[in-house]
Amino acid sequence: MQNSPAYYVKATLNRATWRVRRRWRWGRRGYVERPAGVLHGLAPEDAQEIARLCAAYEVCFETTFDADHAMSNYGLLQLLDVATTQCRWQVPSQPRVIDVGSLNFSYAAVLHAWLHPQKLVGIELDGYRLYDNLHTRHSYAQHYIRDLPATEYCVMNFLAYNAPADLITMLYPFVVPEPLVHWDLPLAEFQPAQIFAHAHQLLTPGGFVVMANFGAEEFQAAAPLMRRAGFALHGSCVYEGGLSEHQIPSYVSVWSRL
Ligand SMILES: C[S@@+](CC[C@H](N)C(=O)[O-])C[C@H]1O[C@@H](n2cnc3c(N)ncnc32)[C@H](O)[C@@H]1O
Repeated sequence: MQNSPAYYVKATLNRATWRVRRRWRWGRRGYVERPAGVLHGLAPEDAQEIARLCAAYEVCFETTFDADHAMSNYGLLQLLDVATTQCRWQVPSQPRVIDVGSLNFSYAAVLHAWLHPQKLVGIELDGYRLYDNLHTRHSYAQHYIRDLPATEYCVMNFLAYNAPADLITMLYPFVVPEPLVHWDLPLAEFQPAQIFAHAHQLLTPGGFVVMANFGAEEFQAAAPLMRRAGFALHGSCVYEGGLSEHQIPSYVSVWSRL
């Protein structure tokens, strides 16, 4: 799509709509999600893997989230679990964590189970985006973090956030422009190099970035920018799917701050 007329028309439209959306704060408040209670129709190998994750991380997402959401959280937890082992990385003890580009922070409970953070801050540029039910991402996030200790969701540009962190997570950041345009953002917000440099500034010495990218192309776009920002690759692996609903393999990488 990139370089096509449709791409440039959409990018121009995004610039116009973003002018309004970036100031938008209105939306229904008090989003509540009905828990599934039980997950039905699981394949035996998925049921077995979910039981393993529940035991290892002391979670039971279906008692808090609806079935689709519980499954996507198990998928992400499996990805992070596999990546920790395959990247030969040890989760730091009680880190202060920033998650960049948190969407509606539906996966905050996964980060808690995986990291046991002392503090977790999710930062989202487009946090007042409206869903069809007129709730915003912010409204969803407030529900998802309500029982998680020391957790915040901030609607702002990560480049303006300033507090130290021991670990920064970036799950599927925009490292090529096309997905950003597809997500209705203007090209002016395509700033991966600045975002990685800012992550380097906020991280304490010896801190880490854990990143997931869609496919080899996005990983190959991110890697030189991360090196230029002052990170060294600690380890990487490819997560082919398993419990996750993503069609494209995830490239997960762990970067240490030089
Ligand atoms: C592809 S989405 C990934 C969302 C989420 N991490 C996930 O895994 O589902 C990238 C997100 O980053 C957000 N984003 C982009 N630039 C940002 C910035 N400078 N500061 C904060 N969030 C940003 C976008 O609005 C979008 O929600």
